[in-house]
Amino acid sequence: MKNTHTADNLLPTIFVIFGATGDLTRQKLVPALFHLYREGSLPSLFQVIGFAFDDLSDEEFRERVKEIVRKKVPGATEKKINEFCQYFLYRKGHFESIDGYTELAQALGQKDGAWKVCSNKLFYLAIPPQYYKTIFHKLAESKLTKPCSPEEGWTRVIVEKPFGKDLKTAQELDKLLGSLFQEEQIYRIDHYLGKETVQNILAFRFSNSFLEPTWNSKYIESIHIKLLEKDGIGSRGGFYDGLGALRDVGQNHLLQLLALFTMENPKTFDANSVRQKRTDVLRALKIFNSKDIAEKTKRGQYTRYTKEKNVATNSATETYFKIKASLHTPRWKGVPIYMESGKAMKENKVEVIIMFKHPTPCLCPPGENKHYKNILYYRIQPQEGIHITFWVKKPGPEMVLEEKDFSFDYQKAFEGQEISDAYERLLLNVIRGDQTLFVNTDEIMAEWKFVDPIIQGWQKNIVPLKKY
Ligand code: BG6
Repeated sequence: MKNTHTADNLLPTIFVIFGATGDLTRQKLVPALFHLYREGSLPSLFQVIGFAFDDLSDEEFRERVKEIVRKKVPGATEKKINEFCQYFLYRKGHFESIDGYTELAQALGQKDGAWKVCSNKLFYLAIPPQYYKTIFHKLAESKLTKPCSPEEGWTRVIVEKPFGKDLKTAQELDKLLGSLFQEEQIYRIDHYLGKETVQNILAFRFSNSFLEPTWNSKYIESIHIKLLEKDGIGSRGGFYDGLGALRDVGQNHLLQLLALFTMENPKTFDANSVRQKRTDVLRALKIFNSKDIAEKTKRGQYTRYTKEKNVATNSATETYFKIKASLHTPRWKGVPIYMESGKAMKENKVEVIIMFKHPTPCLCPPGENKHYKNILYYRIQPQEGIHITFWVKKPGPEMVLEEKDFSFDYQKAFEGQEISDAYERLLLNVIRGDQTLFVNTDEIMAEWKFVDPIIQGWQKNIVPLKKY
């Protein structure tokens, strides 16, 4: 994945954030933009226009941006923060009303006039999915989606997850997006794909020839994908309640991890090949019937969940799930793939565990029903790394085996090198026009096809919601 772009050959760009006063802008977008600015990766002519319904002047918005950087980026100097804030402007508007969009169009036109170019335009929907449709319609109505010139200046749109709330709404949204934009203009975010350790999965699998011969049902007993979080839902009750863990992280992050660990070799790292292979394997997921749902899924809710802000007191939203999935491909036939995620768990851990089968015949101690298996722990976060257990003969006269560990730790191996945040990488890739780390429409539809029946089954109470 060679980078042929530098900040110098990136054309003037205007970045419009819908939902500029929200959580995502605060937590992820502003810190990521600041990092990109500090390392000189942004185009030399760059402007951010925040759009939201709060009544703010440009100056007030910049003050907020400053506060975010001071809080989120340790070591940021006041000089850099002040320079960075000059990129930011604010336009007040209601997502439903055309007036705000018309003003936005004027602001964009003025900037292009001042720069004497037709700049690139990037629209980021950092807002709850219920507003997507309205915003797409209004963008079209106000002609904001039309490039200002046929020769220069692209328009791209970034859509956050979840893309729809089920297969039907995802298809509707897709149709609408397709009527306004070309596929090359649409960037659907699953921020897990931007994580360093997630990108490494393909490098690890396809650049180490000792793995490939064993990467199949003949040698692998099971795969377990875990995304566990200590925190509850915090202040996100309004977003989370009714949505639940499976839609929040299962339909996207966990299934993308599943795809990366099980997909066939894409042969090249270009966006189309990688996305096609991810799609193929997602399409091979066994779709559950009621019996499967009863036998292969579990769901739970942490005890204090219904006391959280903006959560219905009788809510049946799951905050935990575990699913035993499987793939009907020759490589993976019969291998259970567990997907598990929960809020308010004992630890923060995102990890994929590959359990290998024991060797046959086995050097098992006679008479004991003990088998020697290797386990590969692929740690996405925290303490990023890869650990493989193996067996050695303990020094001494007897043939006694002991389990040891091959360990690779990112922090130790790349000391002094910062692991950049997923959003930083993703934003840069949108500006550069690289779609590899974004999901395409086929992947999203395959994900919903798998998830939809499970959610419907849970709604019919096929599986009890257990408190934990
Ligand atoms: C988000 C979910 O997509 O991913 C959150 O909406 C979840 O509920 C988060 O906490 C986890 O992301 P990360 O990068 O913190 O592992």
